Amino acid sequence: MTAGPALEVKGLSIKFGEFTAVDEVSFTVERGEIFGFLGANGAGKTTTIRMLCGLLIPSSGSALVGGLGFADGGKGIKKIVGYMSQKFTLYNDLTVGENLDFAAGLRKLEPRYAAKRRRELFGLIGFDRPLNTLVASLPGGVKQELALAAAMLHDPEIVFLDEPTSGVAPASRARFWALIRKVTALGKTVIVTTHYMDEAEQCGRIALMRTGRLIALGSPDELKASAFPGPMTELDFNGSAPAAFLENLEKAPGLLELSPHGMRWHAAFKDKAAMEAALAALPAAASCTLIKPSLEDVFIRLVEGVER
Ligand SMILES: Nc1ncnc2c1ncn2[C@@H]1O[C@H](COP(=O)(O)OP(=O)(O)OP(=O)(O)O)[C@@H](O)[C@H]1O
Ligand SMILES: [Mg+2]
Repeated sequence: MTAGPALEVKGLSIKFGEFTAVDEVSFTVERGEIFGFLGANGAGKTTTIRMLCGLLIPSSGSALVGGLGFADGGKGIKKIVGYMSQKFTLYNDLTVGENLDFAAGLRKLEPRYAAKRRRELFGLIGFDRPLNTLVASLPGGVKQELALAAAMLHDPEIVFLDEPTSGVAPASRARFWALIRKVTALGKTVIVTTHYMDEAEQCGRIALMRTGRLIALGSPDELKASAFPGPMTELDFNGSAPAAFLENLEKAPGLLELSPHGMRWHAAFKDKAAMEAALAALPAAASCTLIKPSLEDVFIRLVEGVER
């Protein structure tokens, strides 16, 4: 294993023509971390990952991946990373064995080594079906676990998983995250993107991206604390929310965020005084409870929200 952090990214940018898809992104990832990328569609998560896998060469900035840069066109990086792509994982019309042989062939792995790794990885993911099982016949969660095994055949130090649980049933998503923890317990570093907030909660640290820029970085608790330095309340109007009250609340000084959550509303304030002033006119039928912000609240405020 190479020394130093898993990733050292400085001012990383890429342009497609005039369009800047990733804009001056900087961060460091230590060995053994579960590091998440969060952001709306088109934020630049996949493009960042593809650069860090050596598949796209940045327009400017630098990145050391396991200590390796882009001087060789990404060749060295490709050897030490595993990549489970967002769009393609395994061929449905091939068997499990054929898919893994194909992955081993792409990596030019020696057949005996590939077979040994296959056995180890089947143990890791708990796969015990016959090798001649057609991939199309597997449940979505099992297919994704196998895709992870295929991405790890060459025993990479750093594993990039781009929306590995997208479209997978909740129970299988939980299983996949248990697997991610097992992978980091082996000393590997995992970089993962997700649109599921419950999954983001399980990352050690999260990088939040918006229109190509990294807008926040930290543990789930750090992100919550920095996005919401003051109190957050949940308002329940016990029926439909009175439009006039909400309209005034929207304009209240010191309001950081106001967002609907089912029949209730979350309102966050700069501090306690701003909260008390803004809620003085709360209708009598309404109730108001202090709550802790969730990552979803953070996402709404930083990624989707209006700047306040
Ligand atoms: N090869 C390309 N040429 C031109 N534009 C591109 C190319 N690849 C990506 N883009 C654009 O770059 C932006 C970032 O795309 P990217 O796929 O990295 O986003 P993402 O955060 O992964 O989104 P999603 O959550 O939908 O997967 C988008 O506007 C996309 O259309
Ligand atoms: Mg993507």
